[in-house]
Amino acid sequence: MAIEHQIQQAVALMKASERLVVLTGAGVSKESGVPTFRDALDGLWAQYDPTRLATPQAFAATPKLVWDFYEYRRQIMRPALPNPAHRALAQLERRFPEMQIITQNVDDLHEQAGSTRIIRLHGNINANKCSKDCQGDPTNVVVADVDSQQQRDVPRCPHCGSYVRPDVVWFGEMLSVELLDAAKIASATADLMLVIGTSGVVIPAADMPQITRRAGGKVIEINPIESNITPIADLWLCGAAGDILPRIVAALADA
Ligand code: OAD
Ligand code: ZN
Repeated sequence: MAIEHQIQQAVALMKASERLVVLTGAGVSKESGVPTFRDALDGLWAQYDPTRLATPQAFAATPKLVWDFYEYRRQIMRPALPNPAHRALAQLERRFPEMQIITQNVDDLHEQAGSTRIIRLHGNINANKCSKDCQGDPTNVVVADVDSQQQRDVPRCPHCGSYVRPDVVWFGEMLSVELLDAAKIASATADLMLVIGTSGVVIPAADMPQITRRAGGKVIEINPIESNITPIADLWLCGAAGDILPRIVAALADA
């Protein structure tokens, strides 16, 4: 089916929607040049498997290696800017003021684009916290404030002296119950979910579209490749988010 016709179908579903929710994955940041978690890492890091570095066990065994891995990822993400997909989602908030974005991404490109209602299931790579959350979960630590001498090593929590770690969810770690509940409520009360740029491999994030469908809502997916979500999507727009989303938002504005 021609993409233009599918865009019109998506616009019709969105015009009829009163409670929209959005689920994003690494694909929405791809056109900002942010490598997805599984993209080949280069240089020193090419020899490592990222899924074996992003774990509590790796941090406990080799804190400096894991800390440096995240410093590397923060450094390559720093120049990234919101792309037209992030900006189109921020524009959608004007038409759907209650709209929430459930994101699996740890970059802050939705915030930079102006979106304000974001449920960050996997944390924020630019934030750090005490690895013991000694003052409560999360005990955020602003690393710039920690004694600069330590920055060559893994910074220490100013409260308890434990290592500081990135405030992201690692493999094998549980998601915050509050965030997961918020995402489930947003998905169960939506009459329409836009799923953008996720392979739908990692749960519980990938369960959210099913929650919307079970509650009677519809699911629209934007992805250039079929994903685990495609079989349950009412409409699959096969293409790049940075191309398709602005066209949907423009057509909505005219509607
Ligand atoms: P993946 O890298 O698994 O999937 C990215 C998806 O984006 C793929 O389905 C691509 O086809 C799609 N894609 C690529 N370019 C796109 C574009 N321009 N527009 C739209 N879609 C595009 O990333 P996620 O599904 O987000 O978890 O991965 C989920 C989680 O796996 C991550 O949050 C991370 C990782 O383990 C944690 O770190 C806990
Ligand atoms: Zn502490």
